[in-house]
Amino acid sequence: MAGNSKSAKVTVIGAGYVGVPTAAVLAHFGHEVVLAESNPAPLRLLVRGESPIVEKGLEELLGEGLSSGKLRIARSAAEAVEGAEFVFLCVPTPQGSDGSADLSFVEAVSEEIKTSLRTGAIVVNKSTVPVGTAGLVERVTDRDDIKVVSNPEFLREGTAVADSPAP
Ligand SMILES: NC(=O)c1ccc[n+]([C@@H]2O[C@H](COP(=O)([O-])OP(=O)(O)OC[C@H]3O[C@@H](n4cnc5c(N)ncnc54)[C@H](O)[C@@H]3O)[C@@H](O)[C@H]2O)c1
Repeated sequence: MAGNSKSAKVTVIGAGYVGVPTAAVLAHFGHEVVLAESNPAPLRLLVRGESPIVEKGLEELLGEGLSSGKLRIARSAAEAVEGAEFVFLCVPTPQGSDGSADLSFVEAVSEEIKTSLRTGAIVVNKSTVPVGTAGLVERVTDRDDIKVVSNPEFLREGTAVADSPAP
């Protein structure tokens, strides 16, 4: 564990280029991480300790997390957020023809998790989204007892594992 004195309960939703390195690196740092993915194809790989994306060092970190029990894989975001102190949203925000971000995945996952979030949970938006999206997540989750914050991801595909802890 690199300089961490406290282990947090973390859920990462979306096992793509951002979610898998984020989950594997946080587990490596000693946090208790659940990685949720709704698509069966990447899910099947992840439960076997295989990464759905190719990134240097990622499969080793996944294997380490799964065998230590610091990293678990889940299918349902709603179940995965139960008890989590931090919930990282790493879902897609594809760009439309007019350049705007499609926020439907952010909206859908917010709806999915809203009743399962524990009191005091911090929902961290790591997807690339326009200013004001924290407000959208707040409106959809409709919970006074949680917080929504923004932590945009800056990793580059190809060096994601190294970039995750060093944005
Ligand atoms: N790829 C990059 O280099 C990069 C860098 C910085 C920021 N971003 C941003 O980060 C966000 C995620 O990008 P990505 O490249 O990781 O996307 P991705 O498509 O590789 O992965 C997203 C994953 O989320 C899953 N997902 C969607 N809805 C879900 C739900 N409700 N429950 C569980 N899983 C769900 C999808 O099945 C998919 O596997 C986007 O906003 C993107 O713009 C990407």
